[in-house]
Amino acid sequence: MSAPCQRLTPALLDELRQIVGPRFVIAGDPEQLQPYSHDEVAEEEYHALPEAVVRPQSADEIARILKLANRERIPVTPRGGGSGLSGGAVPVCGGIVLSLDRMNRILEIDVENLCAVVEPGVITNDLDAAARERGLFFAGYPMSLQSCFIGGNVAENAGGGKAVKYGVTGRYILGLQVVTPEGEIAEFGGKLVKNVTGYDMIGLLVGSEGTLGVFTKIVVKLLPRPTRVVDLLALFPDPETAIRAVPAIMTGARIIPTAIEFMDRLSAHTACRYLNEQLPYEQAGAMLLIELDGNDAAQLEVQYQAVGELCMEKGAIEVYVADNATTQERIWSVRRNIAEAFMVVSPHQSLEDITVPVAAIPAIMPVLEDLSRRYDISIPCYGHAGDGNLHVTPVKNPAHTLEQWHAMLPRILAELYRAAHDLGGVISGEHGIGHKRKAYLHYSLDPASVDLMKRVKRALDPNNILNPGKIFDLP
Ligand code: LAC
Ligand code: ZN
Repeated sequence: MSAPCQRLTPALLDELRQIVGPRFVIAGDPEQLQPYSHDEVAEEEYHALPEAVVRPQSADEIARILKLANRERIPVTPRGGGSGLSGGAVPVCGGIVLSLDRMNRILEIDVENLCAVVEPGVITNDLDAAARERGLFFAGYPMSLQSCFIGGNVAENAGGGKAVKYGVTGRYILGLQVVTPEGEIAEFGGKLVKNVTGYDMIGLLVGSEGTLGVFTKIVVKLLPRPTRVVDLLALFPDPETAIRAVPAIMTGARIIPTAIEFMDRLSAHTACRYLNEQLPYEQAGAMLLIELDGNDAAQLEVQYQAVGELCMEKGAIEVYVADNATTQERIWSVRRNIAEAFMVVSPHQSLEDITVPVAAIPAIMPVLEDLSRRYDISIPCYGHAGDGNLHVTPVKNPAHTLEQWHAMLPRILAELYRAAHDLGGVISGEHGIGHKRKAYLHYSLDPASVDLMKRVKRALDPNNILNPGKIFDLP
């Protein structure tokens, strides 16, 4: 872990304490700073200690912090729930971590306008629970929904398990109050379905990985909550057969499922062991978890029968139906915990999230097999097969030395990213670039595109104060 150079003098720390209150500035004690030095990326090379953590409670406080940071040229890295997977919230240039955890109020659930107004530190699941009480729902479903913050979801344009039918976070962001990198407060959008007044700044800010602004108020679109949900767990003999069924399910049943999640045997097994849970993975080489939702029981039954039959036609061994919330949550909990379960097993792995057009995902499987054989490592794979986003996870072979692993991983990633590109895909579908993938950006973006992005960053953040060292480096 790299130690930051000291830029925050005692006088500046006092100024920060005056802005947010002395209790809400953490500095000086490495043990207290340590939890803010990493996200969920396990490898230590992606961790870095901040000089100070500041926990503001309002847009006004954040504006003052950013003005001070510009005056003194101190990096500021915003942080949500810390569940990121590309190092986005890691202060790689030291300076201040701006923790949004105290800004955690649901300000309004507006039933008539089908939206909520929230602060960035609201836990995503809490937003959905509040919507549920009013018969509504937030359609974002990141796997970390029990700990991630809605502000982080916006910053990363989080994807998750329901993107097949509902799309990703950006589709649900109607309005943003933002503190700009230079410390001005700006508002874009509102409780509006339509808005073409000026540039689409929300579109630019969503997914900007904390580099273009700090979100302080978010208007989130909500949907009427479907009253019925059915999950199918389809067992397949091997990953290839399971994955080949996905494009067929998408087109053959004439419905858009809510979710089509994929788990190979090792992924399901590892999560089940971690949770002490039972799924019938022993019988299968891979499985698909397919969710359908709606309001009409009879119609839903026709639909899930059709999807189940399609799975059998495409080579499934068995299809189990889960139509009660308890069983559904047990299955989804296994799916949601795969990443964490692998991290417990080995810190030497690289959790990837390449994404390709849905029809191209069967072509990924032979690539993984080939990489696995040539590099003599296991590459478990799971993820959001229905939207083409797969969590390919090269894991260090215990027989290899750390040195061998560190030498081979960049080569494996380069081959993987090249394959994704050749299939019309990109290196990240939901976890972002952060600092973990910035050396590989050119696999997805041409020089002209990167140059344009850098110019946007310079225009909004001339002193490179906000989350420097992410997505790309600036001189
Ligand atoms: C998941 C996280 C890793 O889908 O994105 O489990
Ligand atoms: Zn995912």
